[in-house]
Amino acid sequence: MLARAIPRPCSGGSGVNVRCRHDAPGTRPWVPGGLARGAGVKLVAVRPATTVVAAAAGERRRTAGPEPVATAAAAAADGTQLANGSVVAGISKLVTSTVGKSTNILWHECPIGQNERQMLLNQKGCVVWITGLSGSGKSTLACALSRELHSRGHLAYVLDGDNLRHGLNRDLSFKAEDRAENIRRVGEVAKLFADAGLICIASLISPYRSDRSACRNLLPNSSFIEVFLNAPLEVCEARDPKGLYKLARAGKIKGFTGIDDPYEPPSDCEIVIECKIGDCPSPKSMADQVVSYLEANGFLED
Ligand code: ADX
Repeated sequence: MLARAIPRPCSGGSGVNVRCRHDAPGTRPWVPGGLARGAGVKLVAVRPATTVVAAAAGERRRTAGPEPVATAAAAAADGTQLANGSVVAGISKLVTSTVGKSTNILWHECPIGQNERQMLLNQKGCVVWITGLSGSGKSTLACALSRELHSRGHLAYVLDGDNLRHGLNRDLSFKAEDRAENIRRVGEVAKLFADAGLICIASLISPYRSDRSACRNLLPNSSFIEVFLNAPLEVCEARDPKGLYKLARAGKIKGFTGIDDPYEPPSDCEIVIECKIGDCPSPKSMADQVVSYLEANGFLED
């Protein structure tokens, strides 16, 4: 069975500050069937009684009204067609939506949903969103976590900011609006992975609170788990694994997060991992803390 509002006892282990969001403003109810939908959706073709059909299989989809009322002639006059192009008696038009710039689109539900996939995988789909400065160890934690979950027989997938910028997001720069689009796309992809039943580990700087919060709002309540890898700038700069802080200090990279571009730390996240100068938890210990959270909150069972 799918969990509904999964109870989230405040839990966590040494070295990690785990907080709960029971009373967080804007928390939304669990949406049965997985994906949270509806935001920004505008119906553009509502009719008094609308029935929705699937063409070839003759399968009936969700209805938006009590009964089909259109006659074949009316349907033909309306131009109501099945996917195979034919017009069918007694069927009125499909109710389509406009979402953003996409007009006349229709959500198609499949009989096998998140529930079934979760039962197959014996886990609950969710997104573990790791945020922090460049060099804070996000990718290291993401990989350690995925290894740990894998060794326990759980299916996880890492969406890494640097990696995604090699493909899906290669057209995006580091100015604020491109970072926002970067985060939005990854949020949408992560939502799909969670709907697939996977534990999706997203690891990006994601410096702006509003972008992270928009991703949170894409997912059913409690299945977006924000992890703040709180390594201070001094630690990240001392590590400087790619030599980028040095370049940024020298003015050779403009708009570098933490140097001349902002990083807004989370104010209300599920897990904070503290990494202080000379005292950072090991990758395994960080991963264990996240696993503990997932376990305590029912994500590692169906
Ligand atoms: S985010 O800000 O849009 O979330 P993302 O996580 O995808 O960033 O990519 C961060 C990586 O881009 C860094 O690890 C670093 O290698 C590289 N990078 C290049 N320019 C910048 C910059 N101006 N600020 C931060 N990271 C940068």
